[in-house]
Amino acid sequence: MGLALGPGTGRTVTVFGAYGHTGRFVVAQLRKRGFVPLLSGRDAGKLRALAASEPGLEVRPASVDDPASLDRALDGADAVINCAGPFAVTAAPVIEAALRAGIPYVDVAAEIEANLDTFTHFADRARAAGVAVVPAMAFYGGLGDLLATAAMGDWTAADEATIAYGLSSWHPTPGTRTAGAVSGERRGGRRVRYTQGRLEYHDDAPTLLKWPFPDPMGTREVVAEFTMADVVTLPSHLSIPEVRTHMASEAARDLSAPDTPAPTAADDNGRSDQTFLVEAVIRSGHTERRAVARGRDIYVVTAPLAVEAVHRIFTGRTRTLGVASAGEVFDAPDFLRALSPHITVELHYS
Ligand SMILES: NC(=O)c1ccc[n+]([C@@H]2O[C@H](COP(=O)([O-])OP(=O)(O)OC[C@H]3O[C@@H](n4cnc5c(N)ncnc54)[C@H](OP(=O)(O)O)[C@@H]3O)[C@@H](O)[C@H]2O)c1
Repeated sequence: MGLALGPGTGRTVTVFGAYGHTGRFVVAQLRKRGFVPLLSGRDAGKLRALAASEPGLEVRPASVDDPASLDRALDGADAVINCAGPFAVTAAPVIEAALRAGIPYVDVAAEIEANLDTFTHFADRARAAGVAVVPAMAFYGGLGDLLATAAMGDWTAADEATIAYGLSSWHPTPGTRTAGAVSGERRGGRRVRYTQGRLEYHDDAPTLLKWPFPDPMGTREVVAEFTMADVVTLPSHLSIPEVRTHMASEAARDLSAPDTPAPTAADDNGRSDQTFLVEAVIRSGHTERRAVARGRDIYVVTAPLAVEAVHRIFTGRTRTLGVASAGEVFDAPDFLRALSPHITVELHYS
């Protein structure tokens, strides 16, 4: 294939939801890494429009209501990356199609309940089929899990994990808003946290606290227990009974405001001006271990996360098959190093 430029040479990857905001970055990243994306999604017109700007790529319309169309979309592909949310609707049918095709499945779901469903409904069958199914292989879920796993080092258990999100702002895509609405409905408007080794639904009012992010960010106000997909990915393989995620107040306010605009490109790589610092702190007794990631634009960096995952699956750099999150499937420190320059990471052991 003439398009192949790098180590991914010749491998084809169906991108379901290819014309969404995140899907486009995944398509571009696949091409950059020498893979051949097959453009899929439910709207043939939007797929053709995308193909016009990505010449030479095949278009394969498919609907989650039509398994045969998904089989055509995955026919001959080496893997599928699902970027179409809400994943409460799309994950199960696309995983079923991946299992029928016998190919790896990676998604970018940030929906706690949908991610849990993937573990619950597909663990046995994916393991029996010898197929890798990696949910939440994205900024939320996957990155926090890689950071926490790397920070754990040689610890086999810990008392508490906290993932603190220092986002400068959060201009959400329509897909993010829909995911939030769907998850909110599923939990009847209640909030959720992971404590004492399980998910707990509750109605406690959100609280604010000051989080001492490393310099140069410094101490900032965060919404405590602003629960993200990390409460699924970390406990899926790490023995930590308390997992909390905190969100910078500015970003939480942006997300909840109905008039916050969608992200717009501010550089040649399509990145917005949003910057992030994610800090994972693992506590065991009085000892803490930390991992810190920095970068720009949470949607754009999701593409190298998902594509690096597929690349590692293709090259056999996996530790398990079946449904598993990033930190369990991959060598976390090595994976994080490979994300540079998109994301830079520091590990701190005290
Ligand atoms: N975990 C993370 O850190 C992370 C990062 C990035 C994105 N995400 C998630 O990824 C999803 C997409 O986000 P985005 O930023 O790309 O949003 P977006 O630009 O709004 O794109 C949403 C995509 O999903 C498609 N879609 C929606 N419902 C569908 C259905 N029933 N069947 C097939 N396709 C459907 C849309 O197609 P139409 O245009 O035809 O509706 C569109 O292509 C969201 O759920 C978001 O939360 C998560």
